[in-house]
Amino acid sequence: MDLQYKFPEGFWWGSATSATQIEGAANEEGKGKNIWDYWYSIESNRFFENIGPEITSDFYHKYEEDIKLMKEIGHNSFRLSISWSRLIPGGRGNINLEAVKFYNNVIDQLLANDIEPILNLFHFDMPLELQNEGGWENREVVEAYKVYASECFRLFGDRVKTWFTFNEPIVPVEGGYLYNFHYPNVVDFKRAAQVAYNTILAHVKAVESFRTFNIEKGKIGIILNLTPSYPRSQNSADLEAANIADLFFNRSFLDPAVLGQYPQELICILEKYGQLPITQKEDLELIKNNTVDLLGVNYYQPRRVKAKENLPNPYSPFMPEWFFDNYEMPGRKMNPYRGWEIYEKGIYDIMINLKKNYGNIESFVSENGLGVENEERFIKDSYIQDDYRIEFIKEHLKWLHKAIEKECNVKGYHLWTFMDNWSWTNAYKNRYGFVSVDINTKKRTFKKSAYWFKEIANNNGF
Ligand code: GAL
Repeated sequence: MDLQYKFPEGFWWGSATSATQIEGAANEEGKGKNIWDYWYSIESNRFFENIGPEITSDFYHKYEEDIKLMKEIGHNSFRLSISWSRLIPGGRGNINLEAVKFYNNVIDQLLANDIEPILNLFHFDMPLELQNEGGWENREVVEAYKVYASECFRLFGDRVKTWFTFNEPIVPVEGGYLYNFHYPNVVDFKRAAQVAYNTILAHVKAVESFRTFNIEKGKIGIILNLTPSYPRSQNSADLEAANIADLFFNRSFLDPAVLGQYPQELICILEKYGQLPITQKEDLELIKNNTVDLLGVNYYQPRRVKAKENLPNPYSPFMPEWFFDNYEMPGRKMNPYRGWEIYEKGIYDIMINLKKNYGNIESFVSENGLGVENEERFIKDSYIQDDYRIEFIKEHLKWLHKAIEKECNVKGYHLWTFMDNWSWTNAYKNRYGFVSVDINTKKRTFKKSAYWFKEIANNNGF
């Protein structure tokens, strides 16, 4: 077949998800509580239409059916996360054997269907008991995570080759400690910086442990939501604003994870404003020696910034926004449901940046997708005809293909997400899946994009 966009041999076609967003069974078979179970129990009004994480898509009971559907639409890989509070209720101590059985079944079922399981260890879901000890602010929680990660390598590393330590580790920092959209709803930059730093420590300790298992063909990485910062203009004040936004939101994790060190400029800013986290001497060596093998790139939207119009109030809490204003570019293309700009070329710019400044590290698009409200409007012949999603994926893939032509080291594309799932405080507001899920009956139905994706996965291009 004559394809305009042919992808490299062995390219990963699939989708991504996370434990809390699909498993359900939140109080079943020994699972402990995590911060989402708890936050919902005390403040259900913070969640869209008051829907919490207890049932979600019920993957815990329906995984066999779901994996069959993945197979049917041509998946050769699938990323999911392990729920720490399910595997080790309370965060440390005894392993929950029911959880081991469940994750073993899922892994085996994926492999039996020729779908490579990609496991992520942490997707926003801190066990409640550990959050009560201070969560990532506490170095003892870092140690507990290292034990948890090692248990996962031991239990599942015989079959799972590709591992990730964290998904979007900056999001719990932003949500939990700066902008109040995750528990514990703190607004305090210095504590946020400690959380970010300790997360990197947890990450490198997991990488260090991973190496001791000598998993054949095993690779470990981190998944980052890289949001390119575009300046309003080439004026030096706009450029500097974009540079600082990039330091705070991208390089704060990208540099230590891939290059093994923090950007000096970021350290200087935090030092100047008295916001540096507490560190220990030996940490630096650990960060330097445990860089990743591969990078997951989640890309949804760009960040556009401009120089500040007004000086920040020096008595207000220190924030990254002291250094830039967000810029609403006239004519930008928007996803009105999620309020995010759609800028397909961003995916190309990210990959070129990784090639130029990060040693062309092996990477893949680990999340990209389009959240849409009330998709039932688009039902025709009993299924959702989501041509807008097909268009969205296609345009991103064209830019990704261009990056590959420029020799960027990109190994795959995963949509967020396989089936409609529970999206944190947005609950079921926006739907992202290839498969729609009736939130009452849990019935699964392919959308048009699922049939389309099957074609491109089978042809390795379009
Ligand atoms: C990402 C996140 C996912 C999912 C998605 C869509 O940032 O990793 O968990 O919720 O956004 O909103």
